[in-house]
Formats: sequence, structure tokens, C-alpha cells
Amino acid sequence: MLEQLVTKRSIRNWLLIACTAASGFTSTLCSTVALSQAGQGKATATDDLRPVYANAQDIAEGKRVAEASCAACHGANGISATKGIPHLAGQRPAYLYLELRAYQSGARSDESMTNAVKFLSDDALVKAAAYYGSQDPAQPVASSAGKSASAKKDPVQTGKAAAAGCAGCHGDAGVSKTAGMPSLIGMDPKYLVAAMKAYKNGQRKNEMMKNFLSAISDAELENVALYYGLQKPARAQTPAAGDQAAGKAAAGACAGCHGEQGVSTNAANPSLAGQDAQYLAAALQVYKDGARSDETMKALAAPLDESAMKNIAAYYANQQPQPPKVQKPLSASDLAQRCDRCHGVDGNSTDPRLPALAAQRADYLEKVLHAYQAGARKSTAMAAMSAAMSDADVENLAAYYAGKKPRAVVFVILPGK
Ligand code: HEC
Ligand code: HEC
Ligand code: HEC
Ligand code: HEC
Repeated sequence: MLEQLVTKRSIRNWLLIACTAASGFTSTLCSTVALSQAGQGKATATDDLRPVYANAQDIAEGKRVAEASCAACHGANGISATKGIPHLAGQRPAYLYLELRAYQSGARSDESMTNAVKFLSDDALVKAAAYYGSQDPAQPVASSAGKSASAKKDPVQTGKAAAAGCAGCHGDAGVSKTAGMPSLIGMDPKYLVAAMKAYKNGQRKNEMMKNFLSAISDAELENVALYYGLQKPARAQTPAAGDQAAGKAAAGACAGCHGEQGVSTNAANPSLAGQDAQYLAAALQVYKDGARSDETMKALAAPLDESAMKNIAAYYANQQPQPPKVQKPLSASDLAQRCDRCHGVDGNSTDPRLPALAAQRADYLEKVLHAYQAGARKSTAMAAMSAAMSDADVENLAAYYAGKKPRAVVFVILPGK
């Protein structure tokens, strides 16, 4: 797959593996530098990567290029002091070279970078990459800051804290003990978020709920909904008077949307199983009289009289609620284990073509992760990896890697068979 990544950019090049000064003379491992001869019309049928070594003169020439064209933005020796601009020191040289080519060809777009590289020769790019790869990486930002930031941001814990004041009415962990108060368990978090936002913006009219929720940010509402989505479902501990059998018969028309036995599989339609009966009957009534506006439910509630509503409510209240399909989000370090498969232990890539993440600027990491998510920066692997990340995940992972100890470019070279 990585080979494909290389060919996709139609680079037919060789890798230059250099034992640079940075990796220390006692090291038996070598640094890697991407090298040249790229696209010079000698493309062979294969795209074999052939190791070559950079010498001190290559690095010295790279330093001259860097000082003349790059240092103003990337800092002396490739340690950036500017928001949004990555450190280059100690970055994997083959990766640096591939990215420089990508800026040149327009495959990766950034105006500053396009301007910086457009008139540089391939040889200059190779040597600049070799130079930066040979520099000592930046120091990690205090990792304790990263850690406490992610601990504070555990979405389930923050959701729980924000929901502390809700238990008085909605019951401990969302199982109602008060007739008329809805349970909040067994619901898809997306439904709960939509319902809470509807109260906040006045689309669903309830002054009391509006007041309770107005102090909670939209991001926090997601956490509250997630918290309830992860609680163990149980029937509301409230009475459910009514004829369940009659209710069951009348509920035939409801299963298509609210699911068999009231367990919905569609986030747009709330589950009704185990819900407080008085709340269910009242909800049908307010749909019918239009106080709660929903055209579909209004039409469905129109033919129901009070006793039919009670019976349906009793039937659903007695069904067993089920957990919605929601997974506890992975912590930054859980997620990072997946990233490390490609980016190396603690983000210290041992594949010359893959970027190291350790001690990279957090603001830059966030920026590029969002760029992958939006498709502004193109990479099949990273589009897939970043697609499901929340903003909090991006922030946490960026802080996590920014706090990791970087290791100078050292590649573990296995003997061929
Ligand atoms: C005017 C400021 C500016 C100059 C000059 C500049 N860069 Fe950049 N560079 C940036 C910015 C901003 C980014 C991040 C762009 C992005 O998100 O794609 C970047 C990104 C990069 C990247 C990608 C790093 C990564 O981790 O993916 C490389 C490689 C790079 N620059 C090398 C160079 C080299 C080599 C030079 C000199 C020839 C240079 N840059 C000159 C601003 C600059
Ligand atoms: C004083 C009692 C009370 C408190 C406290 C309260 N609620 Fe409510 N909540 C209600 C009532 C009553 C309803 C039904 C309102 C209606 O008919 O629309 C409701 C409805 C809801 C609904 C819609 C349920 C559904 O099935 O559509 C959600 C979601 C909700 N509340 C969340 C919360 C959250 C989160 C908190 C805490 C931040 C909270 N509530 C605090 C009484 C309360
Ligand atoms: C075509 C799909 C559809 C059908 C059929 C349907 N519903 Fe609904 N129902 C919805 C949607 C969508 C909502 C959420 C509307 C809103 O946001 O207020 C809803 C909401 C409800 C609620 C409020 C739940 C809560 O937690 O606040 C009740 C009670 C309800 N439906 C009962 C019924 C009953 C009883 C029937 C059968 C007579 C029925 N529904 C048939 C789509 C449907
Ligand atoms: C299947 C391999 C793979 C996995 C797993 C993976 N990545 Fe990547 N990552 C890549 C490749 C390939 C690139 C270079 C893509 C490009 O050229 O834009 C990359 C680039 C990046 C970059 C850009 C670095 C820079 O200097 O610009 C960041 C940040 C990043 N990945 C973060 C992550 C995070 C966080 C995870 C885990 C959630 C992750 N990656 C998982 C393959 C992977």
C-alpha cells in the first residue's frame, strides 16, 4: 500500500539511507533520506526503493537551501515557533521529500509551501529533506499538560457531570421514578441531542427544559446524550395503568418507525420501550392537539382517544428497553495504538515514508487532521483514520503526540532473506 502511495505520486525514486550525524556515531541504525533521480524519464517497470546514503556534503548543501528558503517560516534548524507551521527537524526525510513533491505538483495544496518550493530543483528538495532529517527533533511539550487535558475531556465523564442536575426529574442514570417524567435511557444519543436542541431553540416548547438546557453548550449536549446512551436500560419505575393487550393491537401501526416492542433502530424515531406511561400518553396528546409539533405524529395521534392513548402507553411502558447502538469512545491512548501501527511507537515512525508525530506542534497536528477529515489534504489511509474522529478526539490526539518524546530518525533495517 505504501508502495502505491509512492507510485500514485508518480515518483520513481530511490531512497537514500544515510547514517547522519544526528543518530549518533555509536548507533548501528541509520537515518533515511529520500533521494532523487525521480521522474527523470528512466522510469522502470518496477518502483523498487533502493537505499542510498547521504553524505556530509549533501547535508551541508541542504542546510544552505533551508537557510535561504525555509528558515523564515520553519525556524532555525527546523524547529518552528509559528502556529500552523510544522517542525521539520528530525522528520523522516523520505516523507519530507514526498511532501515537497506533493506541494510542487499541487497534490497537496498550501499557498506558502507552493510558493516556497515551486522554483526549487529536485536536487535541492532532496538535500533540504536530508538536512532537516539530520537535525535533532523539537522537545515534547510538557506531557502532563497533554494528559490532564485529555483526562478532563473524557466525554462520558463530562456528560455525567453536566447531567447531575437532571437526575431529580429523569431519575438516577436516566431511569424515571416520577410519573410524567420521561426516562432518558435506551435512546439513541442522536435523538436525545436533537430533542435537547429543539428545547433550546424553542422549536419544542417547554420553558422549563429550555431553561435547564440553555446553560449547556451544544458540544456538552453530545456528552450528556452519550452518557445516557451508555447507561443500563431499565423500565421506568412508575405505574402503567391501561389495557396492554388493547394497546398492543393499536400499536401495530407504530412498529414500522418505533421498532418491534418499541425498540427503535432509527435514530430519528425515539424508542418507546420501558418509557414512563404517563409521559407517553401525554406526548400523544400534545402531538394530537398540536402543542408539540410533528406532522407525522399529529396524523397518527389524531384518531386516538384518551383511553387508546393510555392503552398504547401501558403496552410500551411494559416492554423491555434495550441499549442503543453506541460505543464508548476510545481514549486518546486507545486511539493512538491504532495510529502507532503506521506512525511507529509513540509516533516515532520507523518507516521512512511515514511521518513521525512525536513532539510535532499540537496546533499543526490538529490542523492537518481536520484537513484530512475535510478532504482538503488527500490520503486514503488518513481519510479513513480521521473520518470518525470527533473534534475532541482530534484535540486529544494532537496533545497526546505533541507530548511524546521524539527520537531522531532511526530506522530498523532488517536483513533481506
Ligand atoms: C511562508 C512560510 C513557509 C516557507 C517559506 C516554507 N514553508 Fe514549509 N510549510 C509552511 C506551512 C504553513 C506548512 C503547513 C502547510 C500544510 O498544512 O499543508 C508547511 C509545511 C511543510 C512541509 C510538510 C511537513 C509535514 O509534516 O507534512 C514540509 C516538508 C515543508 N513545509 C518544507 C519546507 C521547505 C523545505 C521549505 C524551504 C524550501 C519550506 N517548507 C518553506 C510554511 C512555509
Ligand atoms: C424539573 C424536572 C426536570 C429537570 C430537572 C430536567 N428535566 Fe428534562 N424533562 C422534564 C419534563 C417534564 C420533560 C417532558 C417535556 C415535554 O413534554 O416536552 C423533559 C424532557 C426531556 C427530554 C426529552 C425526552 C424525550 O423523550 O423526548 C430530554 C432529552 C431531557 N428532558 C433532558 C434533560 C436533561 C439533560 C436535563 C438536565 C440538564 C433535564 N432534562 C432536566 C423534566 C425535567
Ligand atoms: C412514520 C414514522 C412514525 C410512525 C408510524 C409513528 N411514529 Fe411516533 N414518532 C416518530 C418520530 C419521527 C417522532 C419524534 C418526533 C419529535 O421530534 O417530536 C415520534 C415520537 C413519538 C413519541 C414521543 C416520544 C418521546 O420520547 O418524546 C411517541 C409517544 C410516539 N411517537 C408514539 C407513537 C405511536 C403510539 C405510534 C403509532 C400509533 C407512532 N408513534 C407511530 C415517528 C413515527
Ligand atoms: C494505515 C496507516 C496509517 C494509520 C493507521 C494512521 N496513519 Fe496517519 N498517515 C499515514 C500516511 C500514509 C500519512 C501521509 C499521508 C500524506 O501524505 O498526506 C499520514 C499522515 C499523518 C499526519 C500528517 C503528519 C504531518 O506531518 O503532516 C498526521 C497528523 C497523522 N497521519 C495522524 C494520524 C493519527 C492521529 C492516526 C491515528 C488515529 C493515524 N495517523 C493513523 C498513514 C496512517
